[in-house]
Amino acid sequence: MSCQTCEELDIVARYPEKTAELDAYIDGLGVSADVEKNRGNLIQCLHRAQHVFGYLPLEVQKHVAKKLKLHLSEVYGVISFYHYFTEKPVGRYKINICTGTACFVKGAGSVLEEFKRYLNLDQGETSSDRKFSLGGVRCLGACSLAPVVMVNDRVYGNVTSAMVPEIINDCK
Ligand code: FES
Repeated sequence: MSCQTCEELDIVARYPEKTAELDAYIDGLGVSADVEKNRGNLIQCLHRAQHVFGYLPLEVQKHVAKKLKLHLSEVYGVISFYHYFTEKPVGRYKINICTGTACFVKGAGSVLEEFKRYLNLDQGETSSDRKFSLGGVRCLGACSLAPVVMVNDRVYGNVTSAMVPEIINDCK
């Protein structure tokens, strides 16, 4: 049987090479009998897990919890607290529109609307071909360039709605 849910459920088993890469990283940090120490490594491990798997579905969360001898609820608590972590698969191009105060005042709202219209996606959604994810962030620390859009690691400043097709085109 093949469906997205099934794919997520056994992602750890389905990608043994990725699991081995994550395990090697966690082992390299030195898993301890001291749970406090493991807790201190949790965010680092989740960053690596997301880097390796692309996102953090339940099976990956369980795996990290087991490796670090932590409760799953603790792992989930960290993932749900930090905006950076995602439980859903994301697109190859992650488009984040800053909706912090400076960007919002300078028109980020209409830029976001144009991205939604152009990609036919809502904020928080990923295209069916997993090419684009559309998200928002609070402040990218580049307020002098407001409104700011970030596509993966690339920053676009002074963005207008008219620039949206050009930014999408850069992704091809
Ligand atoms: S508010 Fe957008 S970069 Fe600061």
